[in-house]
Amino acid sequence: MKSDELFALLRRRGFLWPSAEIYGGAQGLFDYGPLGWGLKRRLEDAWTQWFVGLSDDYYRIEPAELLPEAVVRASGHLEHFTDLEVACGSCHSVFRADTVLERYRPEGVDGMSPEQVGELLTTYQVRCPSCGKTELSVPRPFNMMFGVDFGPTGGERAYLAPETAQASYLAFPRMWEVGRKALPLGIASVGKVYRNEIAPRQVLFRMRAFTQAELQIFFDPTTFAPPFASVASEPLPMLRAERRTAGEAAPELVTVRDLVDTGLLPAFYAYHLAVSYRFYRDVLGHPANSIRLYEKSDKERAFYNKIQYDIELHLDSLGGYRELGAVHYRGDYDLTRHAQGSRKDLSVKTEDGRRLLPHVLELTFGLDRNLWALADRHLAVDGERTVFRLPPYLAPVPLGLFPLLKKEHGLFARELQHRLQGAGVPADFDDAGSIGKRYARADEAGTPFAVTVDGESVADGPNRGTVTLRERDSKAQVRLGFEGLLARVAPTLRLPSAPVDAR
Ligand code: GAP
Repeated sequence: MKSDELFALLRRRGFLWPSAEIYGGAQGLFDYGPLGWGLKRRLEDAWTQWFVGLSDDYYRIEPAELLPEAVVRASGHLEHFTDLEVACGSCHSVFRADTVLERYRPEGVDGMSPEQVGELLTTYQVRCPSCGKTELSVPRPFNMMFGVDFGPTGGERAYLAPETAQASYLAFPRMWEVGRKALPLGIASVGKVYRNEIAPRQVLFRMRAFTQAELQIFFDPTTFAPPFASVASEPLPMLRAERRTAGEAAPELVTVRDLVDTGLLPAFYAYHLAVSYRFYRDVLGHPANSIRLYEKSDKERAFYNKIQYDIELHLDSLGGYRELGAVHYRGDYDLTRHAQGSRKDLSVKTEDGRRLLPHVLELTFGLDRNLWALADRHLAVDGERTVFRLPPYLAPVPLGLFPLLKKEHGLFARELQHRLQGAGVPADFDDAGSIGKRYARADEAGTPFAVTVDGESVADGPNRGTVTLRERDSKAQVRLGFEGLLARVAPTLRLPSAPVDAR
């Protein structure tokens, strides 16, 4: 489905819509409705269960979303968290430099200086996308953080968090004190982050307020070696920077063991790249051949990273591969900077008595982009119907409960809803319109199971107490009693867990 069609469908069904819609919408801001909220919650739960579940020493925290200026100065965001913007000398419109150069330089301008990008604008005689004149300025860095007054006017300055990661670095010394005082220690945070994107676009892809789920693993680089037996023979679709430079665009399959044995990646990194890949394939249900692991070169990497692979998915709606998450090896950059900024010793004592500033491995995941990717890959028109083939444990509504006739079967259906909810299966009651229409609504919402209560359910006879279960994907129908219904539905709603051999 094209991006516009997909967005129209999600909007019509109340998954999401532009914020302040009655005022014409606010660029880069979106609100989620009941189905979108439900899907996002399930996605967040799936991420938490998988990644925080990797170790008993990984925890979730809930930090504040405002960062004092001293924090973003130390982290490097005041200085480096910039995009290049260009202004048109004729109509004064402002654009992101990489966006106006996209046609000529699809690989982007990461790592290039403003002057080098300016030369590209001249070489290609790039025209202003608004007025068509060739009067674009030399690019200048534009800081993407939102600064706010903190306290009464004239008081301190604070910034809306541009990433959840910083809060985990700030929490490290406290978490060390309250925890087991052992490495690795994982601190995860899921929360809203804010970026003043120059050119918000592609619906949930470049937003100004969005949700990140990030796990920061603090570790000792001399000892961190997750046992990776369970992933060693997994072939990963790698697109290494070196191969890209040589003109290759297709990923090559390399097993985790080979990545480590040939020295391409340290074992701790390869292990986490593999469990992240599996999350996309096995939990989110994306086909293996739609995923690639895209290495960022020295020049393209974010300023804090030593190794960076982006997890990319091929999306029809956006016409190519798009970054949805990443695995960042940040070295000791963050704790070094915050130790300097706060003038606190953030080193810890290892079990063998050394003092060490832990290194950080970051697993980052954008919830909104991933929600869009689920819709792109799993929502499709299938003949007469539109079906959102979400894995059942991600469905915002797991089960639709439909009394065939409002009056005659409503009470039984209500009682069944109560019993199902008591057994941990939330059921959505819908008695409006024909059964066909109710199925259609449930299919679009991604509801994997629909249960119809009819005359046989309530009348004396061999089928008393039974209902018809209809499965979304196969449309198969089967007659079941309460226990049979639970046995079929409940196991499919359990969230998957990551391999346990790293514990
Ligand atoms: N802590 C590292 C960090 O923030 P990032 O690549 O800037 O790295 C991580 O962002 C993830 O956040 C991305 O992989 C993407 O899923 C999501 N993301 C980044 N910018 C976004 C935006 N403007 N709109 C929606 N999601 C975004």
